[in-house]
Amino acid sequence: MKTDSSVATGVHKAALPLSENKHLLKWVEKMAELTSPAAIHWVDGSQEEHDELCAQMVKNGTFIKLNEELWPGCYYARSDASDVARVEDRTFICSLSKDNAGPTNNWENPFEMRKKLKAIFSGAMRGRTMYVLPFSMGPIGSSMSQIGVQLTDSPYVVVSMRIMARIGLPVYQEIDKGEKRVVPCMHSLGAPLAPGQKDVPWPCNREKYIVHFPETREIWSYGSGYGGNALLGKKCFALRIASNIARDEGWMAEHMLILGIEDPSGEKTYVAGAFPSACGKTNFSMLIPPEAFARWRIWTVGDDIAWIKPDQNGRLRAINPEAGFFGVAPGTSIKTNPNAMATLSRNTIFTNVALTAERGVWWEGMTEEPPAECLDWQGKRWTPQIAKETGATAAHPNARFTAPISQCPSVDPGWEDPHGVPISAIIFGGRRATTMPLVYQAFNWSAGVYMGATMGSEMTAAAVGTIGKIRRDPMAMLPFCGYHMGDYFRHWIQMQRSLTETPRIFHVNWFRRDSQGRFLWPGFSENMRVLKWIVDRARGRALGKETPIGWMPRYEDIEWKGLDFPEEKYLELQAIDRNTWCGEVIGHEELFINLHNHLPPEMIYERELLICRL
Ligand code: GTP
Ligand code: SPV
Ligand code: MN
Repeated sequence: MKTDSSVATGVHKAALPLSENKHLLKWVEKMAELTSPAAIHWVDGSQEEHDELCAQMVKNGTFIKLNEELWPGCYYARSDASDVARVEDRTFICSLSKDNAGPTNNWENPFEMRKKLKAIFSGAMRGRTMYVLPFSMGPIGSSMSQIGVQLTDSPYVVVSMRIMARIGLPVYQEIDKGEKRVVPCMHSLGAPLAPGQKDVPWPCNREKYIVHFPETREIWSYGSGYGGNALLGKKCFALRIASNIARDEGWMAEHMLILGIEDPSGEKTYVAGAFPSACGKTNFSMLIPPEAFARWRIWTVGDDIAWIKPDQNGRLRAINPEAGFFGVAPGTSIKTNPNAMATLSRNTIFTNVALTAERGVWWEGMTEEPPAECLDWQGKRWTPQIAKETGATAAHPNARFTAPISQCPSVDPGWEDPHGVPISAIIFGGRRATTMPLVYQAFNWSAGVYMGATMGSEMTAAAVGTIGKIRRDPMAMLPFCGYHMGDYFRHWIQMQRSLTETPRIFHVNWFRRDSQGRFLWPGFSENMRVLKWIVDRARGRALGKETPIGWMPRYEDIEWKGLDFPEEKYLELQAIDRNTWCGEVIGHEELFINLHNHLPPEMIYERELLICRL
């Protein structure tokens, strides 16, 4: 293979393998034969390498370096307009049997799919550099961590993964020990370059494939450079493949934030929360309590994914397998999420936000006053007037920031603890304009599993699809569970057997609206009031009222200091209308019919009990 100096990185050293692992060397060779890259670059993860890759991307137009005085170490990228979110209809679980993937996943015969992949990956990296990117999900060396190697022709992916995961030299060392199985992750933008062909800022392919082979623990991703489609450690590995590993090994891989609540006496309680994409996990995980909660603190462990395992004493402990946030930009502001704003103030990659005249960034909701003029996420001139006339937003609704967790002011001192943090409560939450109250608690573990299994939420811009439509999104895992959803419920039910202490389970909804369509609940930092009740319940020191759906706080059970929230409004927010709820339960049935032959009996009994109580 020749090293073409016009496309290669220029780092001669990088062409040499940095691992001695024979399987890895052989696989890299085989994949290079298949995809025909112009050069191979073994990623070491160093600052120099990062700077060089960024400089190279600035040169070819993928990156714009932001104003160093305003946004130190930050870069700006615009994706292709056809590559802006996860593509669920192009995501496949290719288990040997179709039954194992279940009705909620796209399945294709693995042998057929391999044939197809071979054909589309053939020559797919021509004219580009293939990066060998080793990564650890979870702290390097932790018994709860897992290792992968991503081969990719996208330098944007390499610099993003450097933020999102632990990468480079220390990971090769782990691989060379040969103790842990390595998950091979193959990725191509599907945009080979002919000799002399000019590159585009965001290469990708109209045809996309995000493919998982659960039995062989392999990932193949083609055609997209965006987010969960391309940063393969995230949804593909840490959720779809890891959910399979977790089922086999008796732990849980979940789409959950992890946070710690410290009260004024120094007592710390950790909770995990599953909300669907773009439904508030990042915001909740770094909440700053309202002023009235003096000396209370929220500590951030993770904002998107949790790996949860019972310890020797039968308590659940969780790690965050990631090292960065890939957070929704629109709506993020000093008012709503000051910790996120501080985190993204430096060393951050912004994708599909707006670019201001002083080479800064902006998005809807970042400031009350929009800039007089800027370039929108597609590079077109944008003004508030144009927005008024055409409805065009400056940032894409799924515009994101990629920033290191270590920069978060509320990062938990124990966020990299190899043993994880103990989990006392699990919180499910959806985006529901009606029906679902602000907060309630499940009666017990199996009722809680039912609560999570039947979660509904309005669809958001995080995935390509119909925004606003309510869909069942069990445990916020509909797009991420790598096997049959019915078996996944059974796994949840069975987890209780390995626990001496089960976490309490809750449901929240920050998004209920009044008859005029306004949010009933102020949300954001005020969510602390709900969280306090949750902690007090989990620790057995708060009261609640029994209702048909679970335990609910009475008005006087919530700490209202510093917030003027009248009791009538609270009652509207917490109202459970029996008729509406009967309709809701019919929605549960639709999901269950789909899963019937794998559905654990507990789900049927819980449903019957709920109907009787209603
Ligand atoms: P993913 O990264 O896609 O998994 O999303 P996420 O669950 O982390 O959601 P995130 O915290 O980024 O919030 C998504 C959107 O919901 C943003 O526009 C937020 O401003 C908005 N949001 C978050 N919390 C609240 C809240 O308490 N109330 C209201 N009204 N909006 C909220
Ligand atoms: C989500 O959609 O839940 C995300 C963003 O966290 S992505 O990484 O693109 O999946
Ligand atoms: Mn997510």
